Amino acid sequence: MTLNASHPLMDGRTADSDLITAYRGGKPERRPVWFMRQAGRSLPEYRELRRGIAMLDSCLKPDLAAEITLQPVRRHDVDAGIFFSDIVIPLKLAGVDVDIVPGVGPVLGTPVRTAADVANLPVLDDEALEPIREAVRLTVAELGRKPLIGFAGAPFTLAAYMVEGKPSRDHLGPRTMMHAEPDTWRALANWAADASGKFLRAQLEAGASAGQLFDSWAGSLGVADYQQHVAPASKRALDHVRALGAPLVHFGTGTSELLPAMRDVGVDVIGVDYRLPLDEANRRLGGTTPLQGNIDPALLAAPWEVLEPHVRQVLAAGEAAPGHVVNLGHGVPPEADPAVLTRVVELIHSVAP
Ligand code: CP3
Repeated sequence: MTLNASHPLMDGRTADSDLITAYRGGKPERRPVWFMRQAGRSLPEYRELRRGIAMLDSCLKPDLAAEITLQPVRRHDVDAGIFFSDIVIPLKLAGVDVDIVPGVGPVLGTPVRTAADVANLPVLDDEALEPIREAVRLTVAELGRKPLIGFAGAPFTLAAYMVEGKPSRDHLGPRTMMHAEPDTWRALANWAADASGKFLRAQLEAGASAGQLFDSWAGSLGVADYQQHVAPASKRALDHVRALGAPLVHFGTGTSELLPAMRDVGVDVIGVDYRLPLDEANRRLGGTTPLQGNIDPALLAAPWEVLEPHVRQVLAAGEAAPGHVVNLGHGVPPEADPAVLTRVVELIHSVAP
């Protein structure tokens, strides 16, 4: 299993880009930067394109998904595109009744709570991923030398939505299940791992140059539960793509205590949320793992005199790590002013790497 010779990472287009260089622990010419949720509601051109089209439908129209992915790259001159899709797309393509309710998030028609529910989950057919592959091909044809980052939801975060049937704050459902019904939990986590793994593999094979596993809600777990009940499934998701050789990033929120365990599922880069300074994250990881992060999204709405020193502080703290890709410590808030994001990118690119 390898990427083919005409893949952007193999044919000279992206292998030497600042993003891939930093992900591999090297020193690029400029500090690379992209933003989680750079595509989406903060951009008027996104709101315009999405008018009258449901979120998940927009993800499955290849020309639309490609255009939405490209919008923030053109506007902000960020160093990578993040593929416009959603972590629940593999569920939808497998035939699970799931929708994204505006202002709420992923909602399932029927939550998955029993061993029988898990046994009845449909298997994701590789053929069903064709709209994803097509959207990636269209996107990378336009991106040229800028890498596209593919992504998938980690099994815990995906399973958290499946068990609760909707977003929740404490994730009690999946956390109870992993202790009370460990066999059912393991089967569900493995199902989610395979669905996410196939989704990420489709993106990488079609042209994405790196992959990020989002375990957004892993911060609700203690490290012992993470290692016993979650890490094996996250490792299994990444086993679908490891042999392709593209750099892999692992990110979660509230995961300051989990960083080494998240690294040990076998990734190249750790994404750090806004809670932990990068020099401390680097210390916790033993100084050998490239980092991504971690401008506090709350400061995007602060005066420039407050935001600028914060960005410079993130750049300084990131110098401790063997490679640093700048990002936010979680996604762009929908109400963020896009002009501020563009200015942040200019600042980062103007500072010595
Ligand atoms: O620029 C990007 O980051 C691109 C694409 C992207 C989306 N979702 C598009 C999206 C990515 C990488 C995701 C991942 C995702 N989806 C995660 C992990 C990242 C994170 O933020 O922690 C999670 C937890 C989800 C589940 C999900 N999907 C939520 C919680 C929501 C928000 C619901 C709301 O309306 O507030 C979504 C919907 C969603 N996914 C939107 C976008 C742009 C907003 C919907 C819209 O624009 O109508």
